[in-house]
Amino acid sequence: LELELYFSGHALNREVTAGWTVIVVDVLRSSATISRALHNGAKAVVPAESVSVAVETVSRLDRSAVLLCGERGGEKIGGFDLGNSPSEYDGGAVKGKTLIMTTTNGTASILRCVGAKELLVGSFVNFSAVTDYLSGGRDKIAVVCCGEESRFCLEDSLCGGLFVERLEQMLGDDLVLEEGAAAAKRLARDHAHDILGAVRSSRHGRYLDSIGFAEDVTFCATLDSVPVVPALRQGKLVLAEQP
Ligand code: MLT
Repeated sequence: LELELYFSGHALNREVTAGWTVIVVDVLRSSATISRALHNGAKAVVPAESVSVAVETVSRLDRSAVLLCGERGGEKIGGFDLGNSPSEYDGGAVKGKTLIMTTTNGTASILRCVGAKELLVGSFVNFSAVTDYLSGGRDKIAVVCCGEESRFCLEDSLCGGLFVERLEQMLGDDLVLEEGAAAAKRLARDHAHDILGAVRSSRHGRYLDSIGFAEDVTFCATLDSVPVVPALRQGKLVLAEQP
């Protein structure tokens, strides 16, 4: 049983993740937004690689059944229905809808991992739901911290390290920690006592604060507040059926 962790999603591709169960982690904010949308009754979230692909996809669908969602630079994209603030994704907005979503790092990383055996979306808000879902074990698990372009992000790496620690506790002695996973686990030990402080102090945490999204940062750093497991099935993120 192997456990690997990548500090950026941008170097990945179909081949690298083929055969792996992948947890894609974009703490600020796509993982939390996708989780909250599905928790509040969205039918599915469809990741789109660009603004133009998202717009084009929506144009082919029944407009009353879909929402155009996402951000660039953290802000809602002009002409879109919703941005990438989890606070926007309440039942009134998303229930029964299919969401076509494009975000800078989150959905981009998801699309790089579509060759995975199984793809889950994880973060602090659904941490235990995801680890419980994997409690039966898997041959190979990769945690993909989305990062920011090819850069390391503290908040994703911290959350990824906590996934490594919890999976190791659950799956026990047979688990082989690859080097990225072992490094993230050490990093998580330094910050686990103050998750909110670490997420707030991160580069993207400070940026979101500066553009008026401080409440999102707090929401995204809260453990187990949205207990669902988004899983990719035929190109769409839906709620995973519990084992
Ligand atoms: C991303 O996908 O890069 C993020 O979720 C950006 C954001 O905070 O909206």
